[in-house]
Amino acid sequence: MKHLLTLEQLSKEEILEILNLADQLKFEKKNGIEHHILKGKTLGMIFQKSSTRTRVSFEVGMYELGGNALFLSSRDLQIGRGEPVQDTARVLSRYLDGIMIRTFAQKEVEDLASYGSIPVINALTDYAHPCQVLADLMTIREFKGAFEGLKCVYIGDGNNMANSIIVGCLKLGMKVSVATPKGYEPDQKVLEFTKQYPGMFTLTTDIMEAAKDGDVFFTDVWASMGQEEEMAERIKVFTGYQINDTVLSVANEKPMVLHCLPAHREEEITAKVFEEHAAEIFEEAENRLHAQKAVLVKLMA
Ligand code: CP
Ligand code: NVA
Repeated sequence: MKHLLTLEQLSKEEILEILNLADQLKFEKKNGIEHHILKGKTLGMIFQKSSTRTRVSFEVGMYELGGNALFLSSRDLQIGRGEPVQDTARVLSRYLDGIMIRTFAQKEVEDLASYGSIPVINALTDYAHPCQVLADLMTIREFKGAFEGLKCVYIGDGNNMANSIIVGCLKLGMKVSVATPKGYEPDQKVLEFTKQYPGMFTLTTDIMEAAKDGDVFFTDVWASMGQEEEMAERIKVFTGYQINDTVLSVANEKPMVLHCLPAHREEEITAKVFEEHAAEIFEEAENRLHAQKAVLVKLMA
C-alpha cells in the first residue's frame, strides 16, 4: 500500500490489517501506552474544503504518533492561485513525509500521488471518503463483533460517502442496499464495481425495500460541500429519504445507525433517531482518529 486514494485500491486483507492496527492503537491510547512510531515525520494537510473531524483527528493523530502536522489551507497556498498540483506535489515531496488532501476532483488527488514521491491520503473528494469509511468499518466491528452476515443500508444522496460505503462494506463481506432518488445514484464506476459481488448489492428508489432486515444504517447530508447552491432543489428531491422510526421498524433487531457528521436533524435523520444512536455515531467520530493513525503508520513508518 503506497497511498490511500480510494478503497477500491485496497484488498480485503489490507483493510483488515488497518482495522486491526487501529484497534491496537486505540487500546494503547486508552491504556496510556505511548506509540511514537512516526517520530520526526511531518504530514502536510491540504484543505480546499471545510473540516472539523478530519483536520483535528489527523493533527492530533500525528502528534500522538510523535510526528508533526502542517495545516495548509488552499486559501493560503499558491495552489489557490492556480499553481498546478503537479508542481505542488513535486515541491511538497521534498519537505514532507506524507500529504493528506481534501478537495473536489478525485483526479487532483490521483495527480498529487503520481507526480509526488511521498504517500498521499484522500481526506474526502467529491468521489470518495475512504478515511471515514475505515472508521465506520472499525465501529461496525466494535459494536457487532464481526462483519459476516450483516446487511448495510444507505439512504440518501449517492455521494462520496455512498460510494465508499458500498465499496468498503462489500469488500468486507457485508450485503449493501442503497436507496436514492432517481438521478442521484452512486457513481457509475462504483455500480460497475458492485458487479463483482453478485447477490450482495441492491439499488432502489424505495426506502422501505432497502431498509428491510438491515443491521447497519447510514445516511449523509442531502447537499455536500460544493453543492450549497443546489440546496433548495435538493430539499424537494430528498424529502422522505430519511432515517426515522418508520424506516427502522423493518430493521433487524438492535440496528446500528451511523452518520459521518455533520448531520442535519430532521433532514436526512430525525433528531430522535440521532440521539438514540449517539453512542455509535460519536464512537464512529472518535474512531476517525484511531483508523487514520493506523493508515499513517502503514504509509509513513
Ligand atoms: N466526517 C467528516 O469528514 O467530518 P469533517 O468534514 O468535519 O472533517
Ligand atoms: N458528503 C459530505 C460528507 C462530509 C463529511 C460532503 O462531501 O460534504
